[in-house]
Amino acid sequence: MKTVLIASLFTAFLRTAAAVGVTGAAEGFAKGVTGGGSATPVYPSTTAELISYLGDSSARVIVLQKTFDFSTTEGTTTATGCAPWGTGSACQLAINQNGWCDNYQATAKKVTVKYNNAASLGIQVKSNKSIIGVGAKGIIKGKGLRIVSGASNIIIQNIHITDLNPSLVWGGDGITINNADLVWIDHVTTSLMGRQHIVLGTSASNRITISNCDIDGTTSWSPNCDTYHYWGVYFAGSSDLVTFKNNYIHHTSGRSPKLAGNTLLHAVNNYWYENNGHAFEIDAGAMVLAEGNVFQNVATIVEAGGAGKLFSSPNTSANTACKAYLGHNCEVNGFGTSGTMSGTDTSFIKNFSGKNIASASTYTVAKTVKDTAGFGNI
Ligand SMILES: *[C@@H]1O[C@H](CO)[C@@H](O)[C@H](O)[C@H]1NC(C)=O
Ligand SMILES: *[C@@H]1O[C@H](CO)[C@@H](O)[C@H](O)[C@H]1NC(C)=O
Ligand SMILES: *[C@@H]1O[C@H](CO)[C@@H](O)[C@H](O)[C@H]1NC(C)=O
Repeated sequence: MKTVLIASLFTAFLRTAAAVGVTGAAEGFAKGVTGGGSATPVYPSTTAELISYLGDSSARVIVLQKTFDFSTTEGTTTATGCAPWGTGSACQLAINQNGWCDNYQATAKKVTVKYNNAASLGIQVKSNKSIIGVGAKGIIKGKGLRIVSGASNIIIQNIHITDLNPSLVWGGDGITINNADLVWIDHVTTSLMGRQHIVLGTSASNRITISNCDIDGTTSWSPNCDTYHYWGVYFAGSSDLVTFKNNYIHHTSGRSPKLAGNTLLHAVNNYWYENNGHAFEIDAGAMVLAEGNVFQNVATIVEAGGAGKLFSSPNTSANTACKAYLGHNCEVNGFGTSGTMSGTDTSFIKNFSGKNIASASTYTVAKTVKDTAGFGNI
């Protein structure tokens, strides 16, 4: 009896101990990332403290156990914006950021827009940080995260970033990475963004793994005025290596993802669901290897006209082309009530050579991703 009690206390202790560290390890390109490592965890209690821990030069394990609400921390702005898709209540309006309305939407009706300033620019995250949420408690509301200027070795796990002026284009991006290296985003939920959920800018972001994330495009404001967010994910970097595995990306209508620069994307075992526009937009220079994914109710899987390269793992004989460079034969994708995906370009598969590569399972496994992705699921 006593032994049982001690054993169960010990198990409870281990569980508590596990809750303040990173769970698991990155697979794929960002393998080896350690974030804040074994630094003593810190527990910010205010938005100012969170900003300070993320932005200082110490290695840190930063544990979020509450909602950090930035909505009005930097005030609000009322300004003239535009209505490129009409003024219906389900339509997104736009901020005239850098003259976007003037330069690109010149014929759109001018409207007054009001927005929270804090969402415009994410909180800067410096090198050697782990940002970890406890259970389903770690929420950052009204401001995203920004990993730039050479920052590296960063883990973001089990948090929810939400509510960045979702009714307005240019309202805010969830996670921005530009000029960085070794970043792992895992079990993160992003919802209600004004602009991108995750954006890798045009500088080199190098080795990135995005896994088990819930990219939730459900919104009340969108360009098509139909509750499906358009500006999903944008990988635009030079020299970017992106492993995208076990993510649930749903209720979007475009850019899910859009790729440019010379990004090499390994999209494996993800679940795309309910997209009434397009998922992939593959522009010149980008290279996409997609395997073991499920596309369910995705109207257009790859937007026509993109000049980038795609290998869509079409059949078991073609998929043997992966073995020499990824260490495994690629897995076919699964499709339900969706458009087609046909990419037979094997010319870039050699680029995976010598890199850390995520394993792949049969697409039937990807169907369960919606139950395990996002924050609150580890
Ligand atoms: C991050 O940690 C590594 C290893 O401890 C160290 O070499 C590096 O200087 C740190 N980077 C910064 C910017 O503190
Ligand atoms: C497999 O796909 C390739 C295109 O990469 C095609 O040439 C070939 O005919 C296909 N094989 C079968 C058995 O469908
Ligand atoms: C990747 O593949 C493309 C297409 O074959 C090629 O042009 C490029 O040089 C390759 N990059 C590297 C780093 O091997």
